[in-house]
Amino acid sequence: MIHHHQFDAIIVGAGGAGLMAALHASKAANVAVISKLYPTRSHTGTAQGGIAAPLANMEEDNPEWYMYDTVKGGDYLVDQDAAEVLAHESIDAVVELEHMGLPFDRTPEGRIEQRRFGGHTADFGKRAVMRSCKSADRTGHMILQTLYQACIKQNVQFFDEFFVVDLVVEGGMCLGAVAIEINTGDVHVFHAKATLLASGGFGRMFKVTSNAHSLTGEPVAAVYRRNLPLEDLEFFQFHPTGIYKMGVLLSEAARGEGGVFVNGKGERFMERYAPNMKDLASRDVCSRAIYLEIKDGRGINGKDYVYLDIRPETINGYKSGPGGKTVTAEELEKKLPDIIEMMRIYLGVEPMKEGVPIQPTAHYAMGGIPTDLNCQVLADATGAVVPGLYAAGECACVSVHGANRLGTNSLVDLVVFGRRGGRAMAEFVKSADFKPMPSAPEAPVVAELERIRTQAGQEKAGILRSEMQEIMMDNVGVFRTGPMIQIALNKVRELKARFAHVAIDDKGKRFNTDLLEAYELGAMLDLAEATALSALNRTESRGAHSRDDHPKRDDVNWLKHTFIRYTGAPTVAPTSAETEITYKPVTITKFQPKERTY
Ligand code: FUM
Repeated sequence: MIHHHQFDAIIVGAGGAGLMAALHASKAANVAVISKLYPTRSHTGTAQGGIAAPLANMEEDNPEWYMYDTVKGGDYLVDQDAAEVLAHESIDAVVELEHMGLPFDRTPEGRIEQRRFGGHTADFGKRAVMRSCKSADRTGHMILQTLYQACIKQNVQFFDEFFVVDLVVEGGMCLGAVAIEINTGDVHVFHAKATLLASGGFGRMFKVTSNAHSLTGEPVAAVYRRNLPLEDLEFFQFHPTGIYKMGVLLSEAARGEGGVFVNGKGERFMERYAPNMKDLASRDVCSRAIYLEIKDGRGINGKDYVYLDIRPETINGYKSGPGGKTVTAEELEKKLPDIIEMMRIYLGVEPMKEGVPIQPTAHYAMGGIPTDLNCQVLADATGAVVPGLYAAGECACVSVHGANRLGTNSLVDLVVFGRRGGRAMAEFVKSADFKPMPSAPEAPVVAELERIRTQAGQEKAGILRSEMQEIMMDNVGVFRTGPMIQIALNKVRELKARFAHVAIDDKGKRFNTDLLEAYELGAMLDLAEATALSALNRTESRGAHSRDDHPKRDDVNWLKHTFIRYTGAPTVAPTSAETEITYKPVTITKFQPKERTY
């Protein structure tokens, strides 16, 4: 059954960016949020350590230092106009959340309490600064609950557990989206003046990831399949502290509170890799250091993990706690309750008495759908926009994170650019008309889902998915080389060919997760291919893209953004290999690229 809806603005995704956009757009427009999950299960809820803003509540700080850290953290691939917006608007955005009722931790004087985080410094890199505003280690959860309540109050309409599979793009304009209602299998066509994508990341393409099972990137793949470009996909962040083998996130806040990395020889090894910031260097630096320690045989018992050590005796011995002050077990339990519980439950370790096994985990896509500063999606590298189409949050690339994101900057990105996107849509819909829809825009989706549902074949989506995750983790992970990436690309293309023969067991309509997981796999295969192609093409090392065969950053040839575009016929199934890569210059305003040391 096909259902039709019309709204001024629709938003795909109910995480922080989607809800912030919905809240602001709904002040001037009727707005629907279409979400794969029940909104408060969105992945923003798993963000732990905090949201940066240079409030200077604990010590001297200012937006200029924050902008510098963001640009340097991103290895100078950051568009500096975007970083300036982020740094300056973060203060107001955090205050807005506070006024909505978000229960931030407080100083004894009643101000928002802040903590240190990797790569955040005072005075242009001189020392670590307390900039992260937080609610213990549940900051994302609190943001999500607060924004959801605010959206309900604002009468935003929610379509929960709707799976968006395609965009309606006609004459270069976006006219809406097509979604499957998971409960019934019915198809819904949303006609809108403005559509904002805020669907989060797609880290499930890797084997070990902190990303929820739902982060499979269909809306991002839909953009690509409609011949629109994706930007800087080669930069995928590996967070240093995933739970060993599981990838579940253990917040960087643990190191903000004084935790350190320890190798198999009992050494605090970050002193060798980042003499100034040590365990609070940026994530790319820490993840590489862990890999190198393991490669050189200094993993714990020679294995492929190291310890995160948050024992008070260690922190106090190294004076690595905030301000060199002594910490107690009780304070750590209060500041890091969720991750300490996870260490106990998932790993069975007692973190107050022993080291916690960790390994880098695929965490965050710096690249995504290119946008301008008002979240309008770019049609090409010249900066032309797609009227009616917006994107914000992790699925987008306003290029505020460049080649490597600083911890806490994703939550800032969500609220600052979600708000900008919402306001831009509200403005746009005031003067825009509903453009006529093409006839039966749902037909390609219906046909593709029917093909997957009914065809007989030998291939199982779960097996293809595991093979993709394995090769992406091993060959397009923390370290890559051209030959490794080429092997991954060949494998992904083989998997795409095999995907044509995928058969599913559940032939029904209601809650057919078998069908939807197969569709998700097709989307991830496209994104994996585009990621591998972008990584193969960039013959330098920068931020999270570390090429062993091109170990140096090359500003002469590579200080530019990758725009990859599928050039074949628009589709809702995995694409053919027809692609082109073009480039967009990096916007540099205040900070000239320098060698990056921590
Ligand atoms: O470590 C963390 O709490 C993660 C934060 C982030 O990705 O920004």
